[in-house]
Amino acid sequence: MIKKCLFPAAGYGTRFLPATKAMPKEMLPVLTRPLIEYGVEEAVQAGMTTMAIVTGRGKRAIEDHFDISYELEHQIKGTSKEPLLNSIRSLINKCTFSYTRQVEMKGLGHAILTGETLIGDEAFAVVLADDLCDGNGNGGVLTQMVKLYEKYQCCIVAIEEVPKEDTNKYGVIAGNEIDDGIFMVTDMVEKPDPKDAPSNLAIIGRYILTPDIFDIIRETKPGKGGEIQITDALLTQAKKGMVIAYKFKGERFDCGSVDGFVEATNYFYAKSKEEPKTAKKK
Ligand code: G1P
Repeated sequence: MIKKCLFPAAGYGTRFLPATKAMPKEMLPVLTRPLIEYGVEEAVQAGMTTMAIVTGRGKRAIEDHFDISYELEHQIKGTSKEPLLNSIRSLINKCTFSYTRQVEMKGLGHAILTGETLIGDEAFAVVLADDLCDGNGNGGVLTQMVKLYEKYQCCIVAIEEVPKEDTNKYGVIAGNEIDDGIFMVTDMVEKPDPKDAPSNLAIIGRYILTPDIFDIIRETKPGKGGEIQITDALLTQAKKGMVIAYKFKGERFDCGSVDGFVEATNYFYAKSKEEPKTAKKK
């Protein structure tokens, strides 16, 4: 039912300078795969077929990554290296990629609005590639959220509990738990000081949005940091009882920070060593 996934990918990645001086932060690799490829794979697993990527200046490498490199294909054809391209080839075959540029950086809400031209009038998912998620045996986070959307047919944000002192790094929700790990959102605040935070339930970079959000973003005034915040736009919907927050099952790594990036690398490395053993057992 949800076919399109939007990737806001215009940000500068200043926390990773100088690595991101000439390379998009979305292309930083965890093991051998760039961050954004994990996000695309998660969307494909959830049944999505159109990847709508909001890029900016200096992001050409993302487009080249999701394309065929003829010289490379020619060079490695029939060699032992060829299988290394299998996963990316399979993604390219399963979905299409469209791009639009965010010319000015005016916040996540603005980036999502920039993607309207690629999404049109249908519900869609949003993935912030910095947040690397692994369902860890529960299906991907987007797969879990699509199932919920089928039931609730409204906007959904993925959340996790964070230490109270970290609320100023996230959008934070307040809500009533209507089912195990599912909250009807009553309030949401972008990056509140811990003393003002309505809870310690933080929004992570996975959303399902209904297309009326575009008109709401157009009306949303700049908020925290002078930027147009998706959290503020969603609050308008939450006040009408139209936003669900979902405590997803699995792991999430903040790959926008060096600590989170190293944790993700260690996690996926350990997992890559485990997998052949699991396969043998079967
Ligand atoms: C954005 C959102 C924030 C959310 C976070 C998740 O912030 O504005 O509400 O909690 O992503 O990663 P950013 O991390 O881009 O500053």
